[in-house]
Amino acid sequence: MEEAKSIRVLLVEDDQDDYILFKENLDEIKVNSYTLTWASTYEKALALIKNDDHDIYFFDYLLGARTGLDLIQECLKAGVDAPIIILTGLGNQQTDLKSMELGAADYLVKAEIDVEKLERSIRYCIEQSRMLKKVKTSETKFKSIFENSHDVIYISNEAGKMLDINKSAERLFGYTREEILSMDASQLYANVQDREKFIKEISLNGSCANFEVVLLDKSGAKKYCTLTANIQKTDEGEVYYQGIIHDMTMRKKVEHDLIIAEKLAIAGKIARTLAHEVRNPLTNINLSVEQLEEYIHDENYTPYFEIIKRNSKRINALVTELIENSKPTELNGVTVLVETILQNTVDLARDRAKLKNIEIITEFDWKDEKIVADESKLTIAFLNILINAIEAVEANKGVIRIVASSGNKKCFITIEDNGCGIDDEHLTKVFDPYFTSKPTGMGLGLATTRNIIQTHHGKIELQTELNKGTKFNIELELA
Ligand SMILES: Nc1ncnc2c1ncn2[C@@H]1O[C@H](COP(=O)(O)OP(=O)(O)OP(=O)(O)O)[C@@H](O)[C@H]1O
Ligand SMILES: [Mg+2]
Repeated sequence: MEEAKSIRVLLVEDDQDDYILFKENLDEIKVNSYTLTWASTYEKALALIKNDDHDIYFFDYLLGARTGLDLIQECLKAGVDAPIIILTGLGNQQTDLKSMELGAADYLVKAEIDVEKLERSIRYCIEQSRMLKKVKTSETKFKSIFENSHDVIYISNEAGKMLDINKSAERLFGYTREEILSMDASQLYANVQDREKFIKEISLNGSCANFEVVLLDKSGAKKYCTLTANIQKTDEGEVYYQGIIHDMTMRKKVEHDLIIAEKLAIAGKIARTLAHEVRNPLTNINLSVEQLEEYIHDENYTPYFEIIKRNSKRINALVTELIENSKPTELNGVTVLVETILQNTVDLARDRAKLKNIEIITEFDWKDEKIVADESKLTIAFLNILINAIEAVEANKGVIRIVASSGNKKCFITIEDNGCGIDDEHLTKVFDPYFTSKPTGMGLGLATTRNIIQTHHGKIELQTELNKGTKFNIELELA
C-alpha cells in the first residue's frame, strides 16, 4: 500500500508553551502523519509564507504588534491557496467573523483544542480546500471556452438585460463589452417581431434552437444570425437566459452570390436560345424582302420596304445586345492604367452630365496603378454605374464623386451620387438581369457590370439611402 504523505503544517505562534501544547495534540493524531514547522515571530512567518510549501497554516491571532489577520493578507499576496486556521486565546465573535471574511478556513479557541478537534478541523479544511481548487479549475476551463468561443455566448435576464457576454460580441456587434452590458437585448434586433417570436418560443418550450434572426451592429449593418438559447434558474430561483449567437452573414452572402450567378446563367441560356430562334426567321424575312424589292419596282412601296428593313435591323441589334449581355464575359486582358479607364469612362459620360448640368468630381489618390483588364469591357462596367448615377440625380443639383485609391495590392473605386437612392425592396434586385425601375430601361446595366467585375476577379457592392444617394464600391486586384 502506498504510504500516506505527511501533511506539512506551519504554526505561527509567539508563545512557546502554546507551541508545545499544539505539538503534543498534533503528535497524538493517529489518522495521518504531520510535519510541523514552527515560526515564533511575524518576520520568520513571512519568509516561510513566501516559500508557499505547507499544506495548512495555523496563525495565532495576537503576534506582538501584528495579528494573524495581517498574515492572511500576506498569504493572499503571495498566492498561497492552502487553508489557514486562526488560533486565539479568547472566544471573540468579532475576530472569528473577520478572519473568515478575509479567507480563513476555520477558527479555533486555543483553550478548547484537543486531539479530536484539531484532527477534524485539519481534515475538513484540507478537504474543503481541495474541493475549492477543483471548482476553480473547472471554472477556469469553462471560462476559457466562454471567452475563446468564436460564437457569441451570453447570459441575460428575463427582461433582456445583458448580464454577461464574451469577447466575440465586440467583433460581431462593434460595441464594447461594457456598452453591450448596459444595453437591452431588444436594441440588437432589426425587427421587433423577431424578438417577440423568440420570447414566445422560449417561454413555451424552455429552449429555442437555431432561431433565424437579423441583428444590427453598432453601425446599423445587418447581421444574419442564428440564436440558440434556453432558460435557466439560479439557486435563488431567479430565471435567466443563456444563449449562443452564430453569425451566418458570410454564408448568406455566399448563398446570395451563388443564386445570382445561377440566375445569370439561366437568363443567359434562355436569352441565347431565344436569340437563336429569332435570328432564323429574321434571316428569312430579310431574304424575302430583298427578293420582293427585285420584283416590285414601284416607288410607292419603297417606304414600306424601308420600314421592314429598318425594323429587322433593329431586332437583329437587340438580339446581338441580348447575347452580348448574357454570355459569360471572356477576358481579353492587357495591362492598363486604372486611371485611363476611369478617365475614358468620365469622358464618355461628360455630355450627358452637361445636359443635366451636374458635376462629376474625380479624386484619384495614386500614381500609375495598373491592372490586367479588358479595357473596353471594364469601361462599360464603370459607365453603366456612372450613367445610372446621372439618371438618379436631380438636374442642376446632382454631384457625382468618383474616388480611387489603392493599397494591399488592390485598388478601390467608389462612385457616389446624391440622387434618389434605392428602397429596401428594390435593393435586392438591382443586380438582377432585366430589373429596372425606369420606363425605358432594359435593366441590364448593373447585371452586365457585375458580370464584368466578377470576370475580372473583383468585388462590387453598394450602399444606399433613400433620397440621399447611392455609393458603389468596387475592388480590383492590381497587376
Ligand atoms: N445610382 C442609382 N441610384 C438610384 N437607383 C439606381 C442607381 N443605380 C441603379 N439603380 C436602380 O437599379 C435599377 C437597375 O439598374 P440597371 O442599370 O441594371 O438598369 P436600368 O438603369 O434600369 O436600365 P439600363 O439597362 O438601361 O441600364 C435601376 O432601374 C434603378 O432602379
Ligand atoms: Mg442603367
